[in-house]
Amino acid sequence: MNIDTAHSDQRDDNAVVRCVVADSDRRQRVRLVETKQEPCTIVIFGASGDLTRRKLVPALYRLYAEGGLSDSFLIIGTSRTEMTHNDFRNIMKKAVPLYCNVDRKLWEFFATRLFYTTVEYNNPATFIDLGTFLSSLERDHNLPGNRIYNLAIPPSLYKMTIRMLGESGLSDERRHEQGWPRVVIEKPFGRDLATAIDLNETLREYFHERQIFRIDHYLAKETVQSILMFRFANSIFEPIWNRNYIHDVSIIAAESLGVEHRAGYYEEAGVLRDMFQNHMMQLLSTTAMEPPSLFEAERVRDERVKLFRSLRPFSHDLDSDNVILGQYGGGVIDGTEVPAYRDEHGVSASSLTPTFAMLTVLIDNWRWQGVPFYLTSGKRMARKLTEIVVNFKEVPHSLFRAVLGEHISANRLIMGIQPDERITLTFQTKSPGSNIALRSVTMDFNYLQSYEGPILDAYEKVLLDVIGGDHMLFWRQDGLELTWSYLTPVLDFCETCAERSSRLQIYESGSWGPETARDKISIHSRRI
Ligand code: BG6
Repeated sequence: MNIDTAHSDQRDDNAVVRCVVADSDRRQRVRLVETKQEPCTIVIFGASGDLTRRKLVPALYRLYAEGGLSDSFLIIGTSRTEMTHNDFRNIMKKAVPLYCNVDRKLWEFFATRLFYTTVEYNNPATFIDLGTFLSSLERDHNLPGNRIYNLAIPPSLYKMTIRMLGESGLSDERRHEQGWPRVVIEKPFGRDLATAIDLNETLREYFHERQIFRIDHYLAKETVQSILMFRFANSIFEPIWNRNYIHDVSIIAAESLGVEHRAGYYEEAGVLRDMFQNHMMQLLSTTAMEPPSLFEAERVRDERVKLFRSLRPFSHDLDSDNVILGQYGGGVIDGTEVPAYRDEHGVSASSLTPTFAMLTVLIDNWRWQGVPFYLTSGKRMARKLTEIVVNFKEVPHSLFRAVLGEHISANRLIMGIQPDERITLTFQTKSPGSNIALRSVTMDFNYLQSYEGPILDAYEKVLLDVIGGDHMLFWRQDGLELTWSYLTPVLDFCETCAERSSRLQIYESGSWGPETARDKISIHSRRI
């Protein structure tokens, strides 16, 4: 931990104050998992797609390389594309090193566990064949029939695939006498309240709740999990974590990337479905929920749901005080010119899809009454930055007002999620010297400081938890339904309201979003 200076409106001065990680916690070599994982078969639907090669297989390889998987595992890729096992292995062999370091020897063994078979999502016979193929591989490798069906497919195929899994008996726990079948669903879970309910009904027709894992990879980020430890394993923060001491909270997830090759999906989703209904809502609940009585999946998820239930509903006449929407225009990012959203391949030239939103969220409960939470997310912004900024109230009375004026910069706590994984706390001290002057200093804790163990990326954590059957970091259906219904007025506004085109502000790529939002971001967040 060290202390760094921040800007103060009293006096800017530079100072570095150092804190240290306790000796007993230094340089620990930590194992990735403490207990041996159960043997299992991971079946990836959509294996020819991007998610498989960018996230899933690299995460599985890293888990294997760090000893996080059982010695007995199988990875079965499946999709509509015709491919041999070797084709699949070769594609992965080229792709995985782009996302992580690969040891040649380890890869050789890992590749022997990769297999591929085709399915047609609307053809029951291919699912029966898949079942036969899985059983025979499991028999050959002496595996018990623990299976994870990972749906890395377009959301439009979810229902059909779940139905096929169910109808072909692949979801049935009774058929897996010595094992468990589980299903993992990527976001978006539905595109609104009705479709989320409908998708869940299909799931529940064939799977028990204990078999279902609804992913939000933000929950699995180390630094997001660390917020709960920070809040609930320290007694000094919780007493001030409320309306009496906190003025506002800003949660920002900015990206410099554009829509990339996902225009088809993004035109339908926009930033509200892509980032708000899921990641932003979970960052909010992590910051604002009440302490659960135990760190146990259902208790934690209960508290998240209680928080979602306390969100003050948006009225249908949304104004720019509570919703700012934007879409990126052209601009320059990292010295390279980038096109406007409407000029991206696959985007309509008159698209009104928002790529940026800032929502002012209010929570109607005892703890947070009157404290605004500013939630901001956008693509093609100045840089990648995900952080939660807690702005405390100013001191109630400035005894230094004769020299320093009425306002003294308030304390600020920043929980950096990415790329800076750190917690900083800014406070005032006296500037050295004979004058009365304040300077803001920042205590700065870097999450990885003095740690040398393996780092779990979000997808690795997700996969480990599915194998371990732990639901803590996954959505529960009641939370999903509450957040969809909370956002419905904003979605309706974006899609049907007559002024939607005038309310969508075009912002320059590489900036911090629309002008009106920029002011708010710099007031409520830091140094932007
Ligand atoms: C995904 C969204 O869920 O999260 C993407 O679909 C977004 O549009 C991504 O880029 C951001 O994730 P991360 O982990 O890079 O912040």
